[in-house]
Amino acid sequence: MHGSRMRGNLRPLLLALTFIVVAATITACNIQGFFTKLGDDPTWVDPNAATATAADASAGGPGKAVYGKICASCHLGTGKGVPGNNIPPLAGSAFAQGDASVPIRIVLHGFKGPIQRAGATINGQMAAWKDVLSDQEIADVLTYVRSNFGNSGAAVTVDDVKAVREKTAGRAGAFTEAELQQPL
Ligand code: HEC
Repeated sequence: MHGSRMRGNLRPLLLALTFIVVAATITACNIQGFFTKLGDDPTWVDPNAATATAADASAGGPGKAVYGKICASCHLGTGKGVPGNNIPPLAGSAFAQGDASVPIRIVLHGFKGPIQRAGATINGQMAAWKDVLSDQEIADVLTYVRSNFGNSGAAVTVDDVKAVREKTAGRAGAFTEAELQQPL
């Protein structure tokens, strides 16, 4: 009689304890799964990041990534350059937007010497990218530069870049402004 009343009183307590243990286990698994997903699992892909990349590509095209990786370190993400530091703007640049062979020659072989830009004398040197960037990457990045920063220049094709690369294959060293003013 006494013992059976004890068991009767323990039953709700055991049920409650069982519930707590099960609930705690489920919670622990979820929390662990959550952190594993976010931090530790290299195969986990953030669905929001994937969406952002697709949106960037559709906004700027593939040239935006090349620009961000290489050109923006000097010409800035805004294309405004740093004229006081011998970096001309690409925004509004006649060389960037005009005859495509000019910016293609610049990116392939570099550009040096005094130029008047943005009301200042700029006497810097841009390196050659012919051994780093493919024809496709140069076409993409120049298409991006010519259609952003308020610029309006025709898209540059891979064939455009290929043709200039072939014509200037013997070139060693950066172009000067006087050279670039000559048609290729
Ligand atoms: C390390 C710095 C640096 C990087 C990186 C760089 N540039 Fe330049 N760029 C310059 C400098 C400096 C000049 C001007 C050279 C001179 O004084 O004659 C220039 C000039 C230019 C011009 C001519 C602008 C004008 O109005 O005459 C274009 C077009 C250009 N760069 C495009 C690019 C593109 C596209 C990229 C990326 C693929 C790039 N640059 C990467 C430094 C850089």
